[in-house]
Amino acid sequence: MSSLNVQSRPTFPALIAASEAMDRPPEAVVALNTVLRLTPVDLRELGCVARSFAPTASQLLKLCNSSIFALDRPVHSLEQAAISLGADALRSLSLAWGVVHRVGKLLTPSQAREFWQHNLAVALISERIAAWRCCCASEAYLAGFLHDVGRVPLMIVSEERHASFRNCAWRDESIQAETHAFGIDHCELGVGIASRWDFPESLLRVVGKHHQLEVKGDEPELVRIVSAAEALCSQPRFTAANGSASTRFDHDQTVLSMRLPDLDPQEITTLAEALRMELLFAQRGERPSLRRSADQVEDGC
Ligand SMILES: [Fe+2]
Ligand SMILES: [Fe+2]
Repeated sequence: MSSLNVQSRPTFPALIAASEAMDRPPEAVVALNTVLRLTPVDLRELGCVARSFAPTASQLLKLCNSSIFALDRPVHSLEQAAISLGADALRSLSLAWGVVHRVGKLLTPSQAREFWQHNLAVALISERIAAWRCCCASEAYLAGFLHDVGRVPLMIVSEERHASFRNCAWRDESIQAETHAFGIDHCELGVGIASRWDFPESLLRVVGKHHQLEVKGDEPELVRIVSAAEALCSQPRFTAANGSASTRFDHDQTVLSMRLPDLDPQEITTLAEALRMELLFAQRGERPSLRRSADQVEDGC
């Protein structure tokens, strides 16, 4: 997937400026990414980076020991974390930390709350689907957490310049509306950011394809899972007051069967049932497990 050059598009100068604000990850993330992307990982070099960026390393360690990974034993250094979680997971976690850090400086508090509420919902549902399918649940959680990184520049611009577009850019994730307004959508913007931040290829594909999954295509499992979680968590599910429970359940089964075509109808029904309570909590804004996740992110970052 190629990196996007926003400046090649007929779009607003403000959007270019907003994209440039996400141009580079924090220095600590660059250093960690450089070490963790190599195979095998040089643990001595990783230790040097951890000492050079001790506050960041400490925050990452908290997240490593959180329920996101559910380790049997706590880890006490990033070197141990790289061994226990795997270098790829630690790399994704450090990128997620970097996005949280950057977004906290760029979005208003209410925008950031809206942004992370949705991303945490998609992260949790992605994690649940992955666990149900015996895939890597923590990888799915982080992919869901990062899937909408491309919305950040649009949110900055819509807050500053385009009040009439605000609701759409924040909540609907309508790539058609975004393209109409800006000449570009958040998936393309996200691919540009993810490329510049050197996201792993698996995450980059999630960022770019979670709204445009080809039903008969051969997209990786991770893209399918996050795409399903996105559709389950998206409008109108969380705002429609008139949708009956049975209609929503039918919608959930349709979403799942389109994105996970290897499942038979009985498996789809069972999975939709398994997700029903989590989605209900999300719909009511109660979400106890999401609250725990949000606390972990805020504590760690
Ligand atoms: Fe989303
Ligand atoms: Fe999205």
